[in-house]
Formats: sequence, C-alpha cells, structure tokens
Amino acid sequence: MRVVMVAAECAPIAKVGGLGDFIHGLSRALVAAGATVQVLLPYYRGLLSERWVSLLEPLDEGVSIPFDGGTLACACWRLRVEGLECILIDPAGDWFRRARLYGEPDDGLRFALFARAADALLRRPGWRPDIIHCHDWQSALLPVLRSAPGADIDAPARVCITLHNLAHQGVIEPALLTRLGVDVEALLAPGPFDDPGAPGRANLLRGAIDRADFVNTVSPRYAWEVLHTEQGMGLQGLLQAHADKFGGILNGIDDAVWDPAQDPLIPTHYGTDTLALKAHDRLALRRRLGLCARTAPILALIGRLDAQKGVELILSGIDSALALGYQVVLLGSAPDPVVATRFAAKRAALADCPDAHLELGFDEGLAHLIYAGADMILVPSRYEPCGLTQLIAMRYGTVPLVRRVGGLADTVIDANHSDHPVAERNGYLFEAPTCTAVHAVLARAAWLWHHHPHHFHRLRVNGMSADHSWRRPAARYLALYRGLLGG
Ligand code: ADP
Ligand code: GLC
Repeated sequence: MRVVMVAAECAPIAKVGGLGDFIHGLSRALVAAGATVQVLLPYYRGLLSERWVSLLEPLDEGVSIPFDGGTLACACWRLRVEGLECILIDPAGDWFRRARLYGEPDDGLRFALFARAADALLRRPGWRPDIIHCHDWQSALLPVLRSAPGADIDAPARVCITLHNLAHQGVIEPALLTRLGVDVEALLAPGPFDDPGAPGRANLLRGAIDRADFVNTVSPRYAWEVLHTEQGMGLQGLLQAHADKFGGILNGIDDAVWDPAQDPLIPTHYGTDTLALKAHDRLALRRRLGLCARTAPILALIGRLDAQKGVELILSGIDSALALGYQVVLLGSAPDPVVATRFAAKRAALADCPDAHLELGFDEGLAHLIYAGADMILVPSRYEPCGLTQLIAMRYGTVPLVRRVGGLADTVIDANHSDHPVAERNGYLFEAPTCTAVHAVLARAAWLWHHHPHHFHRLRVNGMSADHSWRRPAARYLALYRGLLGG
C-alpha cells in the first residue's frame, strides 16, 4: 500500500509541536508494518539545519501550478530522514523563506499554495498513491481539490484528514484561492466552506471535513468532545453530519526516539530495572539549569505556551509548586508576544530563586534532559486533542499530572481515584481548570513522593511499562486505509 502524508511538520527536520512527532512516528511505524510512505512538506528555506540541507537531492520533475493568471514553478527535493522519504516542495519566491514555520500574515495563501502543489505532484504518472493522508488546515485544500468532478478518473486515491487541533481552521478570502486557479464557484460554493464566524470567507478545514473520505482526530475522547461540546469550535454540526466517516485514533510516540535506555541526548541511560540511575540525569539537569541540590521533587512543564495549554494555570502552578517544596523547570516557546512578555516577567521575578528555572524558546536537547531528569510533569491544558508530553514523560519514568480532557484523559490513570488495577495507574488527574485544582493535584503528588516513595516508584514503572508506541495506532490507521480501499 502506498501512502502519502501531506503536512506542515515532520520531526526532526521541521517541528513546532506534536504534529512533527506524529508525522515522523506514524510514518515510520507504517513503513515497519509494510506500507510505502512518503511525506510531502514545504521546503522551509533557511530553517532546515545544515545537516539536512547537505542531504537534499533534487528531483528531476517539479510541478507548475496556476498563479495570478500565469504559472508558478515548484521545485521538489528528496530527503531521507531516519528511514523515511520526505519530498520537500519548493515554490519559486519567498513563500517558505521565513524566520518561522507559522504565524506570517500570508499563511493562508502560502499553505494553500503548498496544498495545490502537492495535489499537482500527486496527479503525476508514477506518483499516484493509494492513500493521501492530510493533516490540519495547512493541507486541507487538497481533499477539496480532489473532490472536483472527474478528478478521480486519473487519480483514484482515497483521501483522509486528521484534525490535530480545531482551533486553527484556515479561514481565508476566496479571492486568494482564485489566484491559485481554483474554481471557487464550482468547488467552494455554496455550503460548508462558508465560515459562519466570518461570512464571505472560505474555511478550508470545513471544506476538507465535507469532502474527505475519512476524518479523524487524535484521541477518542477529543473526538467525542468536538462532536458534543464547544471544543468543536463551530464545527460540531458539520462533524455530526459526517459522523459516519469520523472517529478518534489515539496517538503513539516513537519508542526508538523517546527511549531512556538509548537516548543520545541524555547523559545516563536507564530502564525499569535500573531506575535508580535516573538520579544521575536529575543531577545533570540541576547542574545545567543552576538549581540547588536538595531533596525535592522536580516538576517539569514543557510545551507551546499558548491559551490551549492553560497559561494562567501554568503560571499559578509554578507558584503553587514552589510553595509546596518542588523545584520547577519550564521549557516553553511562546509565539504570542503578550504571552511571551508574561513568561519573561515570571522568569525575571524568579531569577534569584535557586529552585526554579524558566527557559523560553525551543530546545529539543534540553527537552530530552528534562523528561529524563524530572520527577513529575504538569499538563494543565484547557483542551488537548491528544498530547504527547505526558506520554513521553511516562516513558522516562516522569509522572504526569494532567487535566482530565481530550487525550490526557485517555492516557493517564489516576493513582488514587481509578477503577483500573493498581498495576495500570500512572499519574494524577484533576477536573476543574482552576488554580485551586492545580494546587490540589500538586499537593497530592508531592505527598506520595515524600511519604510513600515505593508507591511513587510504582507509578513511574507502570508508566514506563505501558505500550504507548505507534504499533497499535499504526495498525488502526492501516485498517482504516484498507477499509477505504475496499479491502
Ligand atoms: P502540541 O502539539 O499541542 O504542541 P504535544 O504534547 O502533542 O503538544 O507535543 C509537543 C511536542 O513538542 C513534544 O515532543 C514536546 O517535547 C515538544 N515541545 C514543545 N515545546 C517545546 C520546546 N519549547 N522545546 C522543545 N520541545 C518542545
Ligand atoms: C496537536 C495537539 C496535540 C496533539 C498533536 C499531535 O498539536 O495540540 O494535542 O498531540 O497535535 O497529534
């Protein structure tokens, strides 16, 4: 089976958050299960490290797409990344020569252009895959283009879209699509593409949900939440109308990349039988970040710092944790300048505190060391489609303290309040998105850490022993693809 992923991120070459991990991890697991997989990405010029640029091979064929009444040439490059074949689409001009992956004023047009070029490439003889798997709004134009009458005659691929985050839907002026030669009247009007919140504008994600052969989210719980609660962010009705082609498949993590027994980015390796060695990574973390040496649990916070992740709860959680005797390490990137300023102020306020270190920015190596060196991780998300940081933390014997939403609720089993056997319990859950609830969960976990280290040890081992790899989810995606292909 030939599968092509069309996405904006793929770790380790282009990653902002979990989407990058997802594309890399699922694709590798599908390859291991016998599928042929290619990943189509924009060529983010200037953002790829030298290591990857030196490995690029130009493809003989590029593609041309309609643009402003003429054509726009897109070169294509092949890059083999850890056993995975990526194809980088490189449109002439500065479309993807920017200082960051997202957040530019012309994101709508840039990524529509990428999806248009990906579609054009996949219609070429020799390229036609069985499955085209799109991700989020950045590739959402593709299922719409594929739905044009007659489009399937030459390219009978089945098209899926995975919704990783409904907060971003790709709402753009239809006139921008006209610039790309898209017959807006025929393809977009009337109907589900109209954005109810912005009349007259096209909502690319709505279009993809309407036209794709299958739509899924990244956990069963988030799938339920987007159908039945305000987490659907305006798409509840449309998703309900398409409930017969909609579901939730829980993410995994790549257990070769995230493995405390062989991770090249941590100083000391360990496993469930040698968990005491984690103390060396704890020491290395304290040394690297200048935390004082004392007997205290280290609480980690790792992630994009935006509204989704619970900015207020993170800030108050830091204060609560310090008051409860934790040491606190935060690693976060904040693209929104207002949020960035708040965290910079917090960092300044804690500059002399020997028990806290706040690192603002993206640092893959430091993230690995924190997962290995910390004792707990706090994930107080307002909503969370799946969440990978809790899964990665568990793999490193770092106990997750999470809000009971989305994929967090599907993966964390409470140490005290659960009908699961003790051997499966792996962390702590709290319900309300309030500072009090965060304080209470921190107090519960600290109590166990101080007074019942054996039980705490058991939570660590349970988390490390559970199978959160991509094997099971990849089998589910393969079954889904086979179903779509009628096999
Ligand atoms: P999201 O995709 O919503 O950002 P996930 O929990 O699914 O959240 O995935 C986050 C991924 O990005 C994890 O691999 C996490 O380690 C990584 N990550 C997030 N922020 C940073 C950062 N500032 N530095 C390094 N890695 C980060
Ligand atoms: C999104 C979600 C996150 C999920 C990731 C990978 O970024 O916010 O919850 O884990 O995608 O699917």
